Amino acid sequence: MAAPQKTVKLNNGLEMPVVGLGTWKSEPGEVSKAVEYALKDAGYRHIDCAFGYGNEKEVGEGIKASGVPREQIWITSKLWSTYHQKVEEALDITLKNLDVEYLDLFLMHWPVPLRPNEKGDMIPLRPDGSRDVDEEWKISDTWKQFEDLQKKGKVRSIGVSNMSQKTLEQFLPKVSIKPVVDQLEIHVYNPQHELLSYLRQEGIVAQAYSPLGSTGSPLMTDEAVVQAAKAHGLQPVDVLLGYLVAKDIVCLPKSVTPKRIESNYTGAISAASKLTPEDIAKLDGLAAAGKQKRFVTPPWPVDLSFADWPTPPTVYSVSI
Ligand SMILES: NC(=O)c1ccc[n+]([C@@H]2O[C@H](COP(=O)([O-])OP(=O)(O)OC[C@H]3O[C@@H](n4cnc5c(N)ncnc54)[C@H](OP(=O)(O)O)[C@@H]3O)[C@@H](O)[C@H]2O)c1
Repeated sequence: MAAPQKTVKLNNGLEMPVVGLGTWKSEPGEVSKAVEYALKDAGYRHIDCAFGYGNEKEVGEGIKASGVPREQIWITSKLWSTYHQKVEEALDITLKNLDVEYLDLFLMHWPVPLRPNEKGDMIPLRPDGSRDVDEEWKISDTWKQFEDLQKKGKVRSIGVSNMSQKTLEQFLPKVSIKPVVDQLEIHVYNPQHELLSYLRQEGIVAQAYSPLGSTGSPLMTDEAVVQAAKAHGLQPVDVLLGYLVAKDIVCLPKSVTPKRIESNYTGAISAASKLTPEDIAKLDGLAAAGKQKRFVTPPWPVDLSFADWPTPPTVYSVSI
């Protein structure tokens, strides 16, 4: 029996469960069991997928094996960068892989179109070895296709990911349907305070990826996190997730380990109610006190204008 879901309301009126299972780097052979366990045994009703993770077929098998009715599950997937000119084709592949009729949320994975090559590479490269960014293609034209897919009923909501305030400020005036979310790297070492305040003002919900610091969950050993956990009889992981849930940020912890899948869900909800405003303020200040760090830094040769984004080796532009 699933626990009642804590949800966040989106600007289109839909309610999204505030904890979702991440699936990046969940290997074929283990991801389907993880998804099945999360839905059937651990109470999750939200799965975060992407074509780019190369495991959507197995994720779909896990969803089916869980026996949880489709309409009770929030499924998100993402458009890979080589598909900006053919969004419906990409969505159809994802729907087929997952073996579902519709998505609850479809995201533009990166605001960076790549020029597809004949070999069908996921990351086509230029002769100089940099990623082959399509500088002419406008991401607002990608978005028009997203809007059409929502109108057709193939997706219930549409959103963006990895979009900075600077990009959003140019992008939002060109859209008819506002993104419901921006999925970003957010955690105690990369709290993105300014971007979050802008998103709140625009009515766009923030989703936190890599909430534990990605592979190996390095943030678990932070001293302030450990202290907060001890003070409330929690695990450090609970604090990392509860810190986000307490701020109504959707968090997407990835795990393929049944015990962790279960405790991440219950721990996040429990910690969100136990952490005090003083705890949150302390965690909010860690990055500014010298611990600012981003764990996911693919070498896009474009200026994405994240305050803390490493300087790219070659700067191409992205059209909006
Ligand atoms: N939009 C984007 O561009 C983007 C980018 C990155 C990620 N994402 C999404 O966000 C999700 C989460 O991010 P992430 O996968 O980078 O990292 P994460 O969730 O921060 O961390 C995952 C790591 O933490 C471990 N872990 C999980 N629960 C644990 C626990 N209770 N105790 C100890 N270790 C634990 C996992 O190990 P085990 O699996 O071995 O248990 C794995 O090594 C992704 O899976 C993906 O769905 C989106």
